Amino acid sequence: MGVMNTKVRKAVFPAAGLGTRFLPATKAQPKEMLTLVDKPLIQYGVEEAIHSGMTNIIIVTGRGKTAIEDHFDVSFELEHLLETRGKRDLLASVRAISDMIDVSYVRQKEALGLGHAVLRAKELVGPEPFAVVLSDDVIDAEIPCLQQLLDIHNFYGASVLALMEVNGPEISNYGVVDADPVSHNGLSGKLFRIHNLVEKPKASEAPSNLAIIGRYLLTPEIFRSIESIEPGSGGEIQLTDALKHLLRSRPIYGLKFEGRRYDAGDKLGFLKATVEFALKRHDLGGPFREYLKTLNL
Ligand code: G1P
Repeated sequence: MGVMNTKVRKAVFPAAGLGTRFLPATKAQPKEMLTLVDKPLIQYGVEEAIHSGMTNIIIVTGRGKTAIEDHFDVSFELEHLLETRGKRDLLASVRAISDMIDVSYVRQKEALGLGHAVLRAKELVGPEPFAVVLSDDVIDAEIPCLQQLLDIHNFYGASVLALMEVNGPEISNYGVVDADPVSHNGLSGKLFRIHNLVEKPKASEAPSNLAIIGRYLLTPEIFRSIESIEPGSGGEIQLTDALKHLLRSRPIYGLKFEGRRYDAGDKLGFLKATVEFALKRHDLGGPFREYLKTLNL
């Protein structure tokens, strides 16, 4: 224990899912490219990773790989056009995407589950702690959620999961933990030591109301655990099951993070996120608010 100086440099973005909850929009493009106001979902996650000090982005792709690759690549034609037209702000926003980071891609040929997707990044991650970001969980927070997990990881040197309270039958859409609160740095009721995890339990069998949200800070031993487990819920290799395996030899913490999370992989959640993010924008918020007021809801 104690503050450590290991730097977490790498963030893995599983992006090979079929996006069935968002058909037909996701028939020919990955759900990670759905646009929230004016940026694709995955860019929100990538920016969160960058703002948490990570520099190596590893995207695990399936179908629609080229749209994601092109998005994070330099677009000479577009930059040239914006330059000749004197559109400096737009040029800066387009350049910022490709400038700040080093992006690598690895292919997940079959959608065999989240654990399987993370395992595809094993060689690129190597023997160091890393983050996993599920980009359909969009989190609006003053301190980036990944940074909040990182602070706990740096103190305990262990894996840390983002947790949120979910009440009612919705709990069975999530990985759910059994955990005891740990007091930490004036945080009480926020940090938990995890004792068990269950992927998508029946509501009546959920061990608590603490759901796993798509931000993970993992130690590299997780890869061995993923390799050791059998398919679970939905016949898929589940990251939750691998974490349960890891618990046998390593402590795992969970943090009820500060911030608001949107399930942007769900149509209603996506609409809510769109409205809230648009209202927060300094360039769009004012006129958009005025427009909403005219709707007489
Ligand atoms: C995945 C994880 C689940 C977690 C959820 C968070 O499920 O398997 O444990 O609670 O992300 O969004 P998915 O939503 O991909 O089915």
